[in-house]
Amino acid sequence: MTVRPLLEARNLARHFAIRHGNWPRSRKALLRAVDGISLTVMPGRTLGLVGESGCGKSTTGRLLLGLMEPTAGTVRFDGQPLARAGTTEWRAQRQLMQMVYQDPLGALDRRLPVAKQIGEALEIHHPAMPSAEHARRVAEVMEAVGLQAHHGPRYPHELSGGQRQRVVLARALILEPRLLVCDEPISALDVSIQAQVVNLLLDLQERLGLAYVFISHDLRVVRQISHEVAVMYLGRIVEYGEAEALFHAPQHPYTRALLAAIPTVARRQADISLLEGDPPDPVDPPSGCTFRSRCSRAQSLCAQSVPALKPLSDGRHVACHFADSNTAVAAA
Ligand SMILES: Nc1ncnc2c1ncn2[C@@H]1O[C@H](COP(=O)(O)OP(=O)(O)O)[C@@H](O)[C@H]1O
Ligand code: SF4
Ligand SMILES: [Mg+2]
Repeated sequence: MTVRPLLEARNLARHFAIRHGNWPRSRKALLRAVDGISLTVMPGRTLGLVGESGCGKSTTGRLLLGLMEPTAGTVRFDGQPLARAGTTEWRAQRQLMQMVYQDPLGALDRRLPVAKQIGEALEIHHPAMPSAEHARRVAEVMEAVGLQAHHGPRYPHELSGGQRQRVVLARALILEPRLLVCDEPISALDVSIQAQVVNLLLDLQERLGLAYVFISHDLRVVRQISHEVAVMYLGRIVEYGEAEALFHAPQHPYTRALLAAIPTVARRQADISLLEGDPPDPVDPPSGCTFRSRCSRAQSLCAQSVPALKPLSDGRHVACHFADSNTAVAAA
């Protein structure tokens, strides 16, 4: 039996009309924050979305949940197109797909006890639910994320960062979603508690069959949690494939450079090409391959034509004119 994708994005784009340049000589410009990406998330699996700050990860996350209108492209959830934001159909879909943000304190209401916030969505979506059932569901989900009953009446500022992120997770889980889009969910936490939250996410996935889109610039964590990985650069996916293969033998020069910056990832000395400089101005990116201004392998063709995201023999996709010869270099 073939399993149906839970989430499918096709040629998704979001462009922003902005004012660009130094004040007061600014001009109108178009910023292609997300520029035609396609991805698939299977039920119970994790897609890691990585790339430097500003490459379009958060915008992608919001497009996937219908929190932002795309300029082009489509998103399907469980086989159905995403309904228009604000409609009854969209609210029904949104119960099944939730967002977990980076900053738990910012995501929570400082004036409400955390148990009240965890149960709030139940009040909205199931107003007729008896209060005993409501309390039982809140207690159940608090236990699932490792919070104790005595945390319930506390306010967000009375909890630790890790406990607050557990509250955010409990609130996201109360409607029994099938998908969580986690946008840098551990970046704001102390290193000592990051691993606890990652383990909790892994545990919840196993017990509840949740699917995740896990957005992060921390490749070590992405490797630990992801089944598939999409690497983004300036609004596009440059490498996409099974996580272990991608981390073991990255094929796109950008993925290689990102991994080379992590000391613990095994790699051949010859492959080390540390990423220098910042990404180019997204309003005025280089012609052809937008990575060419930082790519040690760039050739004249790279300035002339945009490399398509093409499949390699191992099933992964890479957007580089020389992806096949990169493979040969890696194998040598
Ligand atoms: N509402 C907006 N208006 C204009 N530009 C935006 C808006 N949101 C994001 N951007 C721009 O889009 C690009 C991608 O942003 P974002 O998706 O937040 O990247 P990331 O999460 O990878 O850091 C950035 O250049 C950012 O400045
Ligand atoms: S297409 Fe050219 S510039 Fe782009 S990643 Fe490949 S070699 Fe580098
Ligand atoms: Mg972001």
